[in-house]
Amino acid sequence: MMQGKRVLSFGAGPGLWPDEVLARASELILPGPGTGLSPLEMSHRSPDYGEFHARALASLRRLLGAGQEHEVLLLPGGATMQFAMAPANLIPVDGVADYLVTGRWARLALSNARKWAQARVVASSEGEAFAEIPARETWDLDERAAYLHLTSNNTVVGTQLPLLPKGLDCPMVIDASSDVLTRELPLDGVGMLYAGAQKNLGPAGLGLVLIRRELLEIMPRSLPAMLSYREHAARGSLLNTPPTLLIVLLSLMLDWIEGEGGVPEMCRRADERAEIVYSALSSHPGVYSLPARAPWRSRTNVVFRLVDSARDGDFLAQATGRDLVGLEGHRSVGGLRASLYAPMPVDGARRLASLLDDFAAALGREGA
Ligand SMILES: Cc1ncc(COP(=O)(O)O)c(C=O)c1O
Repeated sequence: MMQGKRVLSFGAGPGLWPDEVLARASELILPGPGTGLSPLEMSHRSPDYGEFHARALASLRRLLGAGQEHEVLLLPGGATMQFAMAPANLIPVDGVADYLVTGRWARLALSNARKWAQARVVASSEGEAFAEIPARETWDLDERAAYLHLTSNNTVVGTQLPLLPKGLDCPMVIDASSDVLTRELPLDGVGMLYAGAQKNLGPAGLGLVLIRRELLEIMPRSLPAMLSYREHAARGSLLNTPPTLLIVLLSLMLDWIEGEGGVPEMCRRADERAEIVYSALSSHPGVYSLPARAPWRSRTNVVFRLVDSARDGDFLAQATGRDLVGLEGHRSVGGLRASLYAPMPVDGARRLASLLDDFAAALGREGA
């Protein structure tokens, strides 16, 4: 039973959780009648925990459309861990990988890769304050590249790669942290896809990795087991004691996503929410501006500014008054941002649009 008031979080991560999943989680944390154990106390080798573990992996496989050729892993360390593991596992010692630099997280992925190997920038929109994604014709791809790293959605600046490129000579490695399961991502050409779970899938601190099995054979350097995809895959993501509670919670969130209609429904809702919020913003061009350029605007992170940025505090206070929170922009860019992740109800987007309209109307009356 929920106690006190409930607010709606537009925070960029951890994201919000549906009330029914939270209710199920709080029930589940207490010792069950069958086992007399809380999931917090279950051995990671026990059949009771094993059920949650297998359920989460099977659900992720279905939702991602993984086939026999893919391995799906659950790993600690969020998406940032993959900034290190992907290059360590996939770039040959004297080899190279290509990176498309479209935002702060892409830049961090690149700098982590450079700790292990050579990593090139195929194109960057940093000179444009990451307001767009460099056009495909401008990408300077290297035919020797082990992979091309892309960020499918740029959380800080609010841009999104509308389509994955086709016809590349190397596999893609995709950081899909902020849009995973909110869009259909065809897996042909994808060597690996990874995401921190805390935005669209619930628990913070957990990373999901989908990787083509053939890439597990490469292993260009000798790695400690904990850093090796091959070792994690061989042990079914049970190499050591995994973050069991996070995986139990993930399985609840994935049950919810599947029960609501899976990726097609999450995708439909994402389109509807983004349409509602962007059209409210665009109807008041004298009040709001959108730094990200069309057609690259993100459907999951709507980044916006007040033309009069001195009113940011005022806007945020009015939002809080309506129980809408987490609308501050990323600390590196300021402004405002509404993150609309998979669990965000469409009605949440409507509530935000009403605030945007009312705030603009009040400013109009002040100015009149
Ligand atoms: C696109 C993207 N990649 C990576 C990260 C880092 O994720 P984590 O905190 O799970 O390491 C974030 C976090 O916001 C992100 O938005």
